Amino acid sequence: MNNLRNEIVFFINKEKVVVAGEDAFLPLSSFLRYRKNLTGTKVVCSEGDCGACTVILGWLDENRKIHYTMVDSCIQFVFQLDLCHVITVEGLNLNNELHPVQNSMIRHFGSQCGFCTPGIVMALTDLTLKQKSFNAPEIQEKLTGNLCRCTGYEPIVKASLALNDESMPDLLSSLDSAEIEKQLQQLADSNVIIEFTQNGEKKTAIKPANLADALTLKAKYPQVRLVAGATDFGVQTNKGRAKDKNVMFIAHLHEIGYLKKNAEQLEFGATANWSRIRDFCRSEIPQFSEILDIFAAEQIRNAATIGGNIANGSPIADSLPVLFALNASLKLLSESSERIVPINSFYRGYKQLDLQQNEIIGGVILPLPVKNSVLRLFKVSRRKDLDISTVTMAIYLEMDGNKIQSAAIAAGGVGPVVLRLHSVEKFLVDRTIEPSVFEEAARLAAEEISPISDVRGSKEYRTLLIQNLLQKFSLEREALV
Ligand SMILES: Cc1cc2nc3c(=O)[nH]c(=O)nc-3n(C[C@H](O)[C@H](O)[C@H](O)COP(=O)(O)OP(=O)(O)OC[C@H]3O[C@@H](n4cnc5c(N)ncnc54)[C@H](O)[C@@H]3O)c2cc1C
Ligand code: FES
Ligand code: FES
Repeated sequence: MNNLRNEIVFFINKEKVVVAGEDAFLPLSSFLRYRKNLTGTKVVCSEGDCGACTVILGWLDENRKIHYTMVDSCIQFVFQLDLCHVITVEGLNLNNELHPVQNSMIRHFGSQCGFCTPGIVMALTDLTLKQKSFNAPEIQEKLTGNLCRCTGYEPIVKASLALNDESMPDLLSSLDSAEIEKQLQQLADSNVIIEFTQNGEKKTAIKPANLADALTLKAKYPQVRLVAGATDFGVQTNKGRAKDKNVMFIAHLHEIGYLKKNAEQLEFGATANWSRIRDFCRSEIPQFSEILDIFAAEQIRNAATIGGNIANGSPIADSLPVLFALNASLKLLSESSERIVPINSFYRGYKQLDLQQNEIIGGVILPLPVKNSVLRLFKVSRRKDLDISTVTMAIYLEMDGNKIQSAAIAAGGVGPVVLRLHSVEKFLVDRTIEPSVFEEAARLAAEEISPISDVRGSKEYRTLLIQNLLQKFSLEREALV
């Protein structure tokens, strides 16, 4: 095992911060506001839905270069920040001058009550770091994760468009990013273990230096809860539904952050985040990228991982239908072994996984659709952007001319786990894609699913959605021919 550190080291704007003890378990937004008095970062929802707490987070990539992306600080925890550089709204005006983004927001009346404004300013600043110019759709996409109840967004978009003509200060140089990178690189080879006792309870936060150490530590501390992007963990913790005392952070493990492709399959490391996977799939499985376009918002996609989505085990996880329909497999790693498990047999019941306590999900192998095939993916939610699905579906048909040779249909939100609709699949073989066939398929589907009623939709509504999606699929194909 690599050498050991028992404190977390990171930077906020230009300040080096060292944390040991219970502050390691604070959400970053609370640490900023209550420990550092950086109250420019606002907190509204505490669950990644509003963007008021947006900060820009720099983290070391596999080449140990700092890579900056925006995240929601209410669902990032201090134990995730070792060797990171956090830029807050206060960091934008170190010389007591407003940043051009802030000035433009003032000039174009982009702020009314102002509570959302720091988060919007941070998102737009991140946009100026990534692109020299941008149009209205790009701005709107960038702000998908930033809720503003007052302005109607029009003045914010105008303020953003006006930035196209402005020269931007070199923010990263003014924050000494290159020097920070050097200091962080020097610490990159150590394991971090923070242990302390709070109200008589022992708590542990672990950040392994590399994958081998992670697996050794998981074998040594099997009860430890893995945390990758914390976008599920953070919401569960902030809402009091999870009270983990022992955590191990893994999102920085580059050995399982890979994205690979060959002629037959794609491979995603478990810690690859959704922003990267969305870009990567655009040419190989564009249907998957289109679902990821409406998966949460950029702040979440920059943190959230594929491994976390799979391990969280939600029947409405957006990645699962395509993985089920294309028969993906999971690589499960432990200190002493590696095993491959088909995703179709990974879930044994609601949130019950075929995963041992000493194992972590290391990667996903996704076979590509074959040449003569049709793949359609659906996500139905109450609003298009930043919403959890009510129902999801993947339809994958291998064709022989215009006859269906084999079918794989996976549906989410209609049972305790994502379901393969086997009787529909069987029925479709040797038939053609036409409305009368899919009308019967829809009837069979209703018999195979067992949805529940909840806030997102009643049992009857979900059943009807599944039936309508099957029919929509065939009607749209017919319209194309
Ligand atoms: C505002 C918001 C919007 C969202 N929108 C969507 C959406 O549109 N679609 C959707 O599907 N989800 C959505 N989510 C849920 C969430 O973002 C995803 O499930 C995400 O992929 C989880 O990844 P993570 O890395 O953040 O997981 P974490 O929160 O870090 O972990 C989740 C669970 O997985 C376990 N885990 C993590 N990595 C591993 C691993 N490698 N091996 C074993 N166990 C592991 C953890 O122990 C934990 O139990 C949303 C969440 C938020 C907050
Ligand atoms: S406070 Fe709403 S996203 Fe963090
Ligand atoms: S200005 Fe009030 S919420 Fe945006």
